Amino acid sequence: MQNNTVYVFDTTLRDGEQSPGASMNMQEKRRLARQLDALGVDVIEAGFPASSTGDFEAVQEIAQVIENAQVAGLARASTADIDRAWEAIKDARRPRIHTFLATSDIHMEYKLAMSREQVLAQVAEAVGRASTYTQNVEFSAEDASRSDWSFLTQVVQAAVDAGATTINIPDTVGYTQPEEYAALIRHLKDTVQGIEDVVLSVHCHNDLGLATANTLAAVQAGARQVEVTLNGIGERAGNAALEEVVMALEVRKDLHGLETNVVKDQIYPTCRLLSLIIGQAIPAYKAVIGGNAFAHEAGIHQHGMLQNKQTYEIMTPESIGRPPSEMVLGKHSGRHACQRRLEELGYRLDREQLDHVVEAVKTLADKKKQIFVEDLEALVLEEVYRIPDKYKLLYLSSLSGNMAIPTATLKMSVDDENVQVAEFGVGPVDSVFNAICRIVGKNPSLQKFSVTAITGGTDAQGEVTVKIQEGEQTAIGRGADPDIIVASAKAYINALNRLAKKEEDTICARI
Ligand code: KIV
Ligand code: ZN
Repeated sequence: MQNNTVYVFDTTLRDGEQSPGASMNMQEKRRLARQLDALGVDVIEAGFPASSTGDFEAVQEIAQVIENAQVAGLARASTADIDRAWEAIKDARRPRIHTFLATSDIHMEYKLAMSREQVLAQVAEAVGRASTYTQNVEFSAEDASRSDWSFLTQVVQAAVDAGATTINIPDTVGYTQPEEYAALIRHLKDTVQGIEDVVLSVHCHNDLGLATANTLAAVQAGARQVEVTLNGIGERAGNAALEEVVMALEVRKDLHGLETNVVKDQIYPTCRLLSLIIGQAIPAYKAVIGGNAFAHEAGIHQHGMLQNKQTYEIMTPESIGRPPSEMVLGKHSGRHACQRRLEELGYRLDREQLDHVVEAVKTLADKKKQIFVEDLEALVLEEVYRIPDKYKLLYLSSLSGNMAIPTATLKMSVDDENVQVAEFGVGPVDSVFNAICRIVGKNPSLQKFSVTAITGGTDAQGEVTVKIQEGEQTAIGRGADPDIIVASAKAYINALNRLAKKEEDTICARI
């Protein structure tokens, strides 16, 4: 199947979510999945249904709400996993079962304790079982890039014969190099019978920083599905980044002559949404979407840019949906202006959600003259995409300075009951966190605390991200406010709400 379209398979919600600190709750997964659909990816891998009740439910929910993309559920090559995956995705408009088994000697010996013959038989059986449910079956040969080529060829042949319609050749440990990987793809195309009727797919990890290069080399060799994640998140050093692979194909269309179905100007809003949801900032030097990706500091560069932007820009910020950081709204901006800006940023809100955001814009405009794109996004996340709160901040007063003992007086509602306390600390943030801990009756350890200014200016909103841990559970929280002490309180309470939600989910899973 050789055509000019490269299908984009997004695994942010599965492989991406496996990376440390990237876990998302159900509401966040649904929101991100909808945005991935608007981005135009061809397949959304929604999760691994057999891995937990929470994953099963998230995949099921996503399968029910996605309108265009195919929805894939991951399954080990076992009857139980495949049945569970089908149960989760069967209501999708276009469901896909994605089953996998390792094929490298090291994985077969030490992880699976299986012989080559057993692996061959199990692949045929698993793909056969998945094909009884749907014709849309993907098989992945885990650790393919470290597998013996002739055995891998036999496995791929078995999967194709059993009915797989997509064959994925993962570089599971980020070990391969572009030329070697391209040669492997060509080898499979030359040796597997019937390969022309299936889509060859690649899935690259970034352990040596080669995930995007390897993906593109494989595409040049004939692969027509790329498995990628937003911002390149994923196991260890991450996966090939969607924005890099898609924009490399777009910017160098002259070289590749290939298309994707991705709506390019939704790239930045989607990557930014993920960053806000998981509380992990996009690094300034990140290709395509980083803060510096379109910044020109050197005088000679600025001069060139003024004459002709193409001297130093191979793509425009607008082409990936990155708005210039300009004043977008003020105190007198109305509902329509707010809605239009939100739509330009890729947010489609219902009437009630829009009402909340408009109110929040007015409140913020009382404190801050200019409201920037970044402020608006922070408000959307706070007002619309927050999990229902067990703990809410109602009132906060903080006293500090070099002649005062830092003190916080705080009023919160806990399950709709109001509680008020005052506490001391070594600094204003410490006293606020101590007060919150006293109210909620928990004392989690603080793993991370970071503050960044969302925009420039001394009246900029501070965006605080915290990571807390209690026992085995960790949670990330974020909060934004022109007052960084209030932003810190919001972030800490957000993390406590997420922790409470995780504990609730664990109890439900045990029941
Ligand atoms: O990296 C990998 O091999 C995977 C497979 C399950 C596709 O994530
Ligand atoms: Zn992977």
